[in-house]
Amino acid sequence: MGSYHRDGRVDAHLPHAVRDLLERSTLVIVSNRGPVEFHHTSDGELVTKRGTGGVITAMSAAARYADAIWVACAMTNADRACAERMRQQGAPFIELPDYPDFRLRFVVPDPEAYHGYYNRIANPLLWFLQHYLWDTPRAPDVDHRTWQAWHDGYVVVNRLFAEEVTAVAAASAREPIILLQDYHLYLAPAFIRERCPDLLLHHFVHIPWPDQDYWRLLPSEMRRAICEGLLANDIVGFQTPRHARSFLNTVDANLSDAEVDYRRWEVSFRGRTTRVGVYPISIDPELVRAVAASEDARRHEEHLQAYRNEFTILRVDRAEPSKNVVRGFLAYDRLLEAHPELIGRVNFLAFLVPTRLEVAEYINYLDEINAVVGRINAKYANAAQVEGIHWQPVHLFVGDDYPRALAAMKFYDVLLVNAIFDGMNLVAKEGALLNERDGVIVLSEGAGAYQQLGQWALTVSPTDIEGTAEALWRGLTMPAAERARRAELLRAHVLEHDLRRWLFDQLHDIAKRRSERQPQRLIAPSS
Ligand code: F6P
Repeated sequence: MGSYHRDGRVDAHLPHAVRDLLERSTLVIVSNRGPVEFHHTSDGELVTKRGTGGVITAMSAAARYADAIWVACAMTNADRACAERMRQQGAPFIELPDYPDFRLRFVVPDPEAYHGYYNRIANPLLWFLQHYLWDTPRAPDVDHRTWQAWHDGYVVVNRLFAEEVTAVAAASAREPIILLQDYHLYLAPAFIRERCPDLLLHHFVHIPWPDQDYWRLLPSEMRRAICEGLLANDIVGFQTPRHARSFLNTVDANLSDAEVDYRRWEVSFRGRTTRVGVYPISIDPELVRAVAASEDARRHEEHLQAYRNEFTILRVDRAEPSKNVVRGFLAYDRLLEAHPELIGRVNFLAFLVPTRLEVAEYINYLDEINAVVGRINAKYANAAQVEGIHWQPVHLFVGDDYPRALAAMKFYDVLLVNAIFDGMNLVAKEGALLNERDGVIVLSEGAGAYQQLGQWALTVSPTDIEGTAEALWRGLTMPAAERARRAELLRAHVLEHDLRRWLFDQLHDIAKRRSERQPQRLIAPSS
């Protein structure tokens, strides 16, 4: 990927409209999680660790192309300490020599507000809603604690973000382009708009947008506030056309004073127009290949050889209910039952990153994963003994180690991506790029990636354990020529539809929007 030079020169190879935009603008990236986390060492020193997740990877790439400021929430005590130190020194930004692409600014809510915002509303409520994760007769219960977390957490933190963004915008020497990310910040655009009516606001929603009926499980005050917040943006972007259409329907159903134009994908609301766009996120092939070729990854690759078998099935995920990890193992169990000839010949390697352990559902899910893996290993350990072999059918690797996960992608025969619902799923794209064995991808219809890669993968419905077992079998036994054909097409698609394209398509639309809006600004308000 190209880069921005601190002297203001923008990569000459960028598309003209994008280059022009970047030369005049400062990108203000706004996300809950920051690009780096601070931690205290045992002797009290402040050290940094790169943030994790798709948003960070994608927006770190964006920061490379322009003058960039990142506004994020202080999540750790050390983040808060660092923000406080910066405040005492009167410094407007945290500058990090190891991360020259951006300057950082923290929003610092008090811990209770943060807890309500992140651990009660954003993750258990909005994330669960947007991934259809509820067992609706039992959950969610929107009780007084939920409302308190909404008012004193989600609303408060979104307001703090808006204050920080408007302060950054006011101090900016170049035109600020505000790039809001994800479901944590649905209310912030409206709060920003109250203060700065002319700012260019773009919001990308990385996760699915469910059907408007499902949104009815949220009280109308909440869902209206969310729609109104998003409609304060100039552009709202989604991963797939289905999510974008669903958003239009949700707005139509909830805001009687909004006018939805389904043909132009626009909403007029309170004198403004919001455009809805589709930008399927992707990976940076150069960067992913570089990590996969790193010494660290090679060391892991060597070590992981011991875990391979005649056939290797792989999954790489956050340990997260929407990823459908447990059903994946049940399908594997079923595969072994249906095809005992595989006993001793196939290994399932699962690399899972624990996440959000402050939320009860996530801890319970991790326990369920451990239990099902234990059961399968115990069951087939006996079967293997009868055959006189030592064999462990599942190897579970828990921890956050990106080079190790990429190393494993090189040698799978089947990659299992059976998410219930997923905004995109970048693992499917990383696997398609890195795999060296013409491996087959078993892909859920519920993953955003399915819309792009589904035609070359084996399709599964996420609840269909029997169908997933069959797809695993088909993948493992697919003729070599067919595997090679599909793998080649998958790789070509990922190379062509990369992260640059995701970014440039958005910047291109922002530039267009900006040029359409400019004449309006020339009209001075009458006094
Ligand atoms: O999928 C969207 C996303 O924002 C990812 O970038 C990230 O992995 C996740 O959701 C948020 O995770 P966290 O709560 O750990 O920041």
